[in-house]
Amino acid sequence: IGNKIGLTPALGWNSWNAFGLSVDDGRVRTAAKTMIEKLASYGWNYVNIDDGWEIDKRLPNGEIAANSKFPDMKGLTTYVHSLGLKMGIYSSPGPTTCGGYLGSWQHEDQDAKTYGDWGIDYLKYDWCSYSEVSPKEPKLDDLKKPYQVIRASLDKVNRDIMLSFCQYGWGKVWEWGAETGGNSWRTTGDIQDTWRSMSEIGFNQVAAVPFAQPGHFNDPDMLVVGKVGWGPSLHNTHLSADEQYTHISLWSLQAVPLLIGCDMGALDKFTLNLLTNSEVLAIDQDALGKAAKQAVKGDNYQIWVKEMKDGSRAIGLFNLSDKYQTITLNSETAGAYKTIRNVWKQENITKGAGDFKASVAPHGVTLVRVK
Ligand code: DGJ
Repeated sequence: IGNKIGLTPALGWNSWNAFGLSVDDGRVRTAAKTMIEKLASYGWNYVNIDDGWEIDKRLPNGEIAANSKFPDMKGLTTYVHSLGLKMGIYSSPGPTTCGGYLGSWQHEDQDAKTYGDWGIDYLKYDWCSYSEVSPKEPKLDDLKKPYQVIRASLDKVNRDIMLSFCQYGWGKVWEWGAETGGNSWRTTGDIQDTWRSMSEIGFNQVAAVPFAQPGHFNDPDMLVVGKVGWGPSLHNTHLSADEQYTHISLWSLQAVPLLIGCDMGALDKFTLNLLTNSEVLAIDQDALGKAAKQAVKGDNYQIWVKEMKDGSRAIGLFNLSDKYQTITLNSETAGAYKTIRNVWKQENITKGAGDFKASVAPHGVTLVRVK
């Protein structure tokens, strides 16, 4: 299955970072409508419901169903499909999800069949209460098991369903995520909309980098851009504009799923521009499927280099300090090149004789592509 779907990282929306457990049918429809009107032409296509859609108690025949916030899950999926988009859902291998709703424990085949009947295209499978039913100190096989079980259940359904592993980087999941049938696997705990959280996650993906490949990608968690809030109080992300450029650049260089975490009904112009730069998205979506390597690690700056299918290289020059800083890209890091292009600005840079130098904003980035 990994050879047929998810060959490039998923581009989509997930309800969690904006709505938490307060997600409902209307909010998902708004996300789908906004996606088709404003984002889909750039490749965005997954509309993913996170935790909070499930009933508390299974139906008498053991089937799962949606709670009152989702009166007609099949109808909602049909609507999302009618727009030409794909539908994602969420569950846990444990008896309950992290939010206390029903998980798929001992009902994996049944739930996979229900997802297939509804027309689901993507499942995020979140460890949560699985610790209650797995050995106290899980070994590698114990960590793999719930994901193997659900992968087998999904494979019995006559539908291609992407599988996104969500445990929090334990047991170096990047080393075995692909062979266990994951189209992506979380490498970290939950992201927050702070520089500290985003940068600690983003700049610490070095061990996971070699394992990114078509069909199987690392997942350093969702995007904290636009209006976020995890349910109770939506607010504009606390990341500055430059921090958001860093966020999207770093995630794209690392070839990871880009899952927008904001209230799509309140998409502002800055956020929309951030998410619709086709040259930036092309870095994330490059068919080679390689993640960028951390080529230079200075005290307060880093350079990440991603090999692209056409032989070019996408390079991020990141300023981790809170002052402007000039960052030099020497030929050892960049390799030989004739042209250099500023990717966010979509303009070629006139190449001088010496090394390229960029004056980079505090917590910001200069993202270039060299050929
Ligand atoms: C923990 C995950 O890491 C989050 O992304 C989200 O899915 C919540 N669980 C839902 O309860």
